[in-house]
Amino acid sequence: MAMLFALALVALLGGAIAASEDDVASGVCSGSCHLHPKLRERIQKDVAWLDDIGGITDAMIRNISLVCDVNIRHQCNVQATRMMIKDGEIYLNSLHPEWRLGPHEFIGFLLELYEASKISKLPDLEFAWNGNDDAADPAFTWTNRAKLEARFHGGPFPILAWSKSERSFASLVPYSGAFRCSEDSFDNMLHRLEELKRVPWHERKKVAFGRWNMFCATYTYGQEALPSGELYTCPRAYLPSQNVKLPEHMDILPLGAANGGPARGTPVPLFHQNAYRYLVSTDGWAVSSKFDKYLLLGSLVIKAASSRKGYYYDALAPDVHFLPCMNQSLGDIVERVKWALEHDAEAQKIAEAAQTFAVKHLHRGARLCYYRTLIEEMGKRMKFTPDCANRKLCIPLGRFLEFLAGTPRYAHSCRLQEVLIRYGVDRSMPQYNASSDADITELLKDPKHWPRDTDIPSLRHEPYFPGRARRARQQRHRQ
Ligand SMILES: *[C@@H]1O[C@H](CO)[C@@H](O)[C@H](O)[C@H]1NC(C)=O
Ligand SMILES: *[C@@H]1O[C@H](CO)[C@@H](O)[C@H](O)[C@H]1NC(C)=O
Ligand SMILES: *[C@@H]1O[C@H](CO)[C@@H](O)[C@H](O)[C@H]1NC(C)=O
Repeated sequence: MAMLFALALVALLGGAIAASEDDVASGVCSGSCHLHPKLRERIQKDVAWLDDIGGITDAMIRNISLVCDVNIRHQCNVQATRMMIKDGEIYLNSLHPEWRLGPHEFIGFLLELYEASKISKLPDLEFAWNGNDDAADPAFTWTNRAKLEARFHGGPFPILAWSKSERSFASLVPYSGAFRCSEDSFDNMLHRLEELKRVPWHERKKVAFGRWNMFCATYTYGQEALPSGELYTCPRAYLPSQNVKLPEHMDILPLGAANGGPARGTPVPLFHQNAYRYLVSTDGWAVSSKFDKYLLLGSLVIKAASSRKGYYYDALAPDVHFLPCMNQSLGDIVERVKWALEHDAEAQKIAEAAQTFAVKHLHRGARLCYYRTLIEEMGKRMKFTPDCANRKLCIPLGRFLEFLAGTPRYAHSCRLQEVLIRYGVDRSMPQYNASSDADITELLKDPKHWPRDTDIPSLRHEPYFPGRARRARQQRHRQ
């Protein structure tokens, strides 16, 4: 309370408001959970349309089945995994096919959600989770937000996504897989924060360092012209061309095989990138999963403008937590690096503010608090009582996690046991025995598994998710 009051006072007095809002750490404390005010606002912004449309109805949820056409093409069944929360237990009403289960995105999300459900009782809810990189194009967007018209012919529905533009009706959630699953996950890096801090600012090389895989999503070509009049272009392709303008201080290169193309850089483990004083971050297909980790490293983050957002980006202010680039002209990164070289103390202050923010607001407890708050807000807008009896598939999440943990292929995608040992699995619920390991294995084998919970006929052709070939053609066209 005293801290909150002090916070309000600081806000009244003006000054570095964005940074002062960071002071009260997020997380769960004696039953209630505290979130950074900007993260709370983000949640409210994302669920506002549910009020405008009159809440979450059974018809709205059943319509999610229409995401796939009759032939279940273009991996549409990966784009929206359906889930139910009932009496505090989570159920899966559709699945990712086997080929998509290995990577940690889905499993990381499931673990984080399971953990959130064990820390506090979550309200009844049905929703979907977006398993693709980006939840803005083409299906989950508004064509007219004021009239609540969505591109998807089945109408808008609650869907969680880790990356979106403001044109999407999705609700943002953490990229949990990157936060908790990989060797160089955010959680592992946070655990080794003292080690990361051991490289003092003045020993860090005065170099803007950037490494990435050459993903240029179609959306980067659709952005508005920059104030300089230049058309926006893919930062991952463009920024390396700027090295020559400041060769002593810029080392920005894509990774991977040369293929006769421009020079390619050798990778540097994230844990060692704090050797550089400035780190350049760019989005790929979706928001960069490295960005969260860059904030932790204690170097100045220079971030290329993007129409895509992650769940906490509203809490970050330019020039307070990071420096933007490609926001004024394509080549403005050169000015940003020069500014940082000439304003070393200010650059260090921005780097420290980023690190403080990441430490206080992006740790696991804070993320669980975010999930809980979002789900509670969505739950308040439920207009019906969900029931497994009304859905074709209803696998308890605990059962599914046990299956994953017992299957060598998935057992090491994320730290499953860490959660299963701590919270256990309730085996007394009626659906528990309905899905044996053999049953689940069988379901996963079908790459087109898609239980339909609606009587409305599906479209004959899939209009929403272009296949690889079409996507490549679109991209060439836009270039
Ligand atoms: C469900 O989809 C049908 C078919 O497009 C549409 O007519 C109906 O309005 C949708 N219902 C909701 C609740 O969005
Ligand atoms: C771009 O970023 C710079 C550095 O923070 C800032 O001074 C400038 O106002 C920004 N320009 C736009 C158009 O947002
Ligand atoms: C599930 O199966 C086990 C072993 O066959 C049995 O002991 C248990 O009572 C069953 N649980 C339910 C809820 O039916």
